[in-house]
Amino acid sequence: MKTKKITKAVFPVAGLGTRFLPATKSIPKEIMTLVDRPLIQYAIDEARAAGIKEFIFVTSRGKSALEDYFDHAPELESALRRSGKDELLEVLKGTNMDSGAIAYVRQNRPLGLGHAVWCARRLIGNEPFAVLLPDDVIAAERPCLQQMVEAHAETGGCMVAAMEVTPERISSYGVLDVEDERGSVVKVRGMVEKPKASEAPSNLAVIGRYILTPKVLTNLNRMKQGAGGEIQLTDAIAEETGSKAGVHGLRFRGQRYDCGSKIGFLQATVAFGLSRPEFGVEFETFLHELMSMQKAAQ
Ligand code: G1P
Repeated sequence: MKTKKITKAVFPVAGLGTRFLPATKSIPKEIMTLVDRPLIQYAIDEARAAGIKEFIFVTSRGKSALEDYFDHAPELESALRRSGKDELLEVLKGTNMDSGAIAYVRQNRPLGLGHAVWCARRLIGNEPFAVLLPDDVIAAERPCLQQMVEAHAETGGCMVAAMEVTPERISSYGVLDVEDERGSVVKVRGMVEKPKASEAPSNLAVIGRYILTPKVLTNLNRMKQGAGGEIQLTDAIAEETGSKAGVHGLRFRGQRYDCGSKIGFLQATVAFGLSRPEFGVEFETFLHELMSMQKAAQ
């Protein structure tokens, strides 16, 4: 199938991050760090790896630290240059965006994820685009969005990342009603946002990576309120299940961490810490010792 190249991505980052108060009183949740990189950096790197060239942030009041993060820092850069810290200069490069490659729009009222994406409609225009929710951090050999771009080249239409979750957790997600499965790609015939476990059509949940057609933005124009009284992205995508190319889910390969929750954030911190070669076995040894001390104290 001939699909248009996906070069634009939307990052909805307007949320208040109340689950992480007091930390998020003065810093955006997306700047909170896993080891030494902010959550947003993981999402940006994943998008870049998938060929994204234009980055659209949907922000709100109190998120200006994000704009500074992606800007050049001339004083810092020249100080590093003077002291010959080339490695750190290289690290900083990953945070810089080319002029015109990054745009910010404000969601001035918290009306839901669908509304946040709709706020970016003029910047997206009439082409397929990606959406990445930075709370969902995915460690994968091949970045998740790249896996989706490749699968999408075959299917066209809309595509969401999908993962099985336990019945206790299903009501926190958008859930897929599966028509057909072919390898890791599932054809979707319906989607429900945050259903009760007893009413969920499957245990296959939507994870925060999407490739969407511009038609989804047209659907969002109607501003229909859905689960929790919010304008849900899930509902606008679900309307496309009957379209020609339809909606597909990709069971991606990788480990997803829910960094919108404290436990998920902690798990990600430990996992990313363990995967850093610069710590050698020091961190692992520390964890083992800590566990044995805890066991002994029980
Ligand atoms: C959002 C979406 C939901 C999706 C989830 C993935 O929910 O609305 O469909 O399953 O992200 O993380 P939120 O976590 O913002 O409540």
